[in-house]
Amino acid sequence: MYNILNDAFKKRYAVPQFNTNGMIWMESILKTAKKCRAPVIVGTTDKIVDQLGGFRLLAQTFRLMKEELNVTVPAVLHLDHGQAVERCFEAVDAGYDSVMYDGSKLSIEDNVENTKRVVEYAHRNGVTVEAEVGSVGGTEDGVYSDMLYADLNECIQLVQETSIDSLAPALGSVHGKYKGEPNLGFKEMEKLRFTLDIPFVLHGASGISDEELEKTISYGHAKINYNTELNIAWSNALRKNLMENPELHNPMEVLQPSKDALNQTIEKVIKRTGAYQQA
Ligand code: 13P
Repeated sequence: MYNILNDAFKKRYAVPQFNTNGMIWMESILKTAKKCRAPVIVGTTDKIVDQLGGFRLLAQTFRLMKEELNVTVPAVLHLDHGQAVERCFEAVDAGYDSVMYDGSKLSIEDNVENTKRVVEYAHRNGVTVEAEVGSVGGTEDGVYSDMLYADLNECIQLVQETSIDSLAPALGSVHGKYKGEPNLGFKEMEKLRFTLDIPFVLHGASGISDEELEKTISYGHAKINYNTELNIAWSNALRKNLMENPELHNPMEVLQPSKDALNQTIEKVIKRTGAYQQA
């Protein structure tokens, strides 16, 4: 993850993180990254890990799938919004490449303290760490958060005191569908970019326009997280297929249009973030 993010950071493109909801997602993300010769990040939210069989199953599946599909582009597995220090340790032990510790609901002192523990453990095992300041609003996999703009001094404090590898400063983005227009804090991004020399992460990228995305990348965001856009494409295609073909019951025929929609959406995003043909 360190190399993937720092290459993007230097060359001013961004690597997309796509969250997985199962084998079909994982396969689609890896196959499309291979086709596009793009580096890619597969994310699993803390919540979905248990629903998909646990850290070890996910880490082993990811490793085997890369082998089976002969994926040679850089592709890493990342824990998204780890809710506790111990959950990050579990992901490291299971073989994840990268973890996010989300201490955004804590005081900055506690966030720093816990993030330090995660960094120490993860770095000892060759795993990178992302941390968050402020709070990305909205709901993801059933976990709700109020939106809270990141305090810039707290961002600086977290980076300087913890040796994290990337920072997710919450600056107006939300998980899930935006209610109204997104209102991203570009002024704050610009200030942060001048102060901190570390890749930033944008959460809640579904619903952000291409123009806004370009701006966030120019302010040092090297990792851009997508979940909702894929899920909307997936479910729309599934609904359409079943409504147009009410007799359909063969699972592969039921699912094929959704798989195609996933592949197309992933390719579109890879092109949008500039990761296309960067591997
Ligand atoms: P979206 O819900 O906007 O796709 O965001 C996903 C995300 O940020 C994962 O952490």
